[in-house]
Amino acid sequence: MPGYELFGEEERKEVNDVLETGILMRYGFDGPRKGIWKAKELEAAVCQTFGCDYAMLTANGTAALTTAMTALNIGAGDEVIMPAFTFVASFEAILSVGAIPVPVNIDESLTLNPDAVRAAITSRTKCVMPVHMCGSMADMGELLKICREHDLILLEDACQSIGATYKGKKVGTIGHAGTFSFDFVKTITCGEGGVVMTNDKDIYVKCDGYTDHGHDHNGVDRGADLHPFIGYNFRISELHAAVGLAQIRKLPQFLSIQRHNNKLLRSFLEQIPEINFRVVPDEEGDSCSFLSWFLPSAALTRAVVEEMKAQEILAGNFYWYNNNWHYISKWDHLKNAISLNKQSKEVIKSLKSNFNKSFEDSDAIMSRCISTAISLAWTDKQIIDKGNKMAAVIKKILKDQSVMA
Ligand SMILES: Cc1ncc(COP(=O)(O)O)c(C=O)c1O
Repeated sequence: MPGYELFGEEERKEVNDVLETGILMRYGFDGPRKGIWKAKELEAAVCQTFGCDYAMLTANGTAALTTAMTALNIGAGDEVIMPAFTFVASFEAILSVGAIPVPVNIDESLTLNPDAVRAAITSRTKCVMPVHMCGSMADMGELLKICREHDLILLEDACQSIGATYKGKKVGTIGHAGTFSFDFVKTITCGEGGVVMTNDKDIYVKCDGYTDHGHDHNGVDRGADLHPFIGYNFRISELHAAVGLAQIRKLPQFLSIQRHNNKLLRSFLEQIPEINFRVVPDEEGDSCSFLSWFLPSAALTRAVVEEMKAQEILAGNFYWYNNNWHYISKWDHLKNAISLNKQSKEVIKSLKSNFNKSFEDSDAIMSRCISTAISLAWTDKQIIDKGNKMAAVIKKILKDQSVMA
């Protein structure tokens, strides 16, 4: 899956361009940088590659979410609906702007269940934040409809689904704003980095200022810039942007390898009738960075995980249900509102009530799900070997369990 697997001369060349000028900052130093503007170039490449009007790079994907929420005027007391299966960055970003995360059930698309979203809307709901998990996408048609009906902001966290599309549009460019992460394990990496994408100039201008201490970037130099609002520092460096520039040019290659490898591996699991696959709202648009599959019960899934571990083939197969970072049942720090600094009484109260509810619909899905990360480095021979081994483990467990029954 991650772009770092195909890191090479191209990345080195882009980084060397920056090292030769010695200007590691994305703003200013117009003379000494000798025309080298990697962050600007990467932003233009993001717009061109994903079909959005504006792109604002950030230091990481979490900062991209925080920046987007700030620019979208999401703040104190606003409720943001998010899925129970995601990465902790979702609630971290919501809390960082003073808003209240409202987790809801997922469905077999592994993303927001539109019915659960409808049921969670209150007079304080400001935003719906689908998280396009594991390379695929949420049901954007339904979510757009809900947001239009209720006049809500739609912010897409597409950090894990770079290159996926929904009905021909790139995920991350469909809502009011969308984000990618370019951290080390994403489809395109900068080492660390992220981006906010939008088609709304006003949102972009706010992101541009917010990520750089509020600079309006209209002065003759940085000291002469004005600060129309309070900002922060979420800037990306030129070195990170340089890596991303080489990587984004390789995206078509990454996606084509991912799709080939995913399809080949899937063909082995498809031979087992007890296995189902994740629902993909637009099959054509799957970026295929993961193959997510379900067993008939939680007990069988745990047994398969244990057997894969015993046979040393578990690496790269994620049982998210037991993962401390991705699934709500493991977020004890959040359920108990444990933070290093003081939070408002309102936030503490809502965290304790929103995150200690039962999420049995999501449990029933996640406890049966394994996601296999698709490597760009696999050869066909390795995939065939992997597919045979995985299928053998699954068949063994199914047989053992039915014998035991
Ligand atoms: C769904 C999702 N959102 C946000 C992030 C945050 O990105 P970053 O690690 O660049 O801060 C991640 C990172 O794994 C993620 O998976």
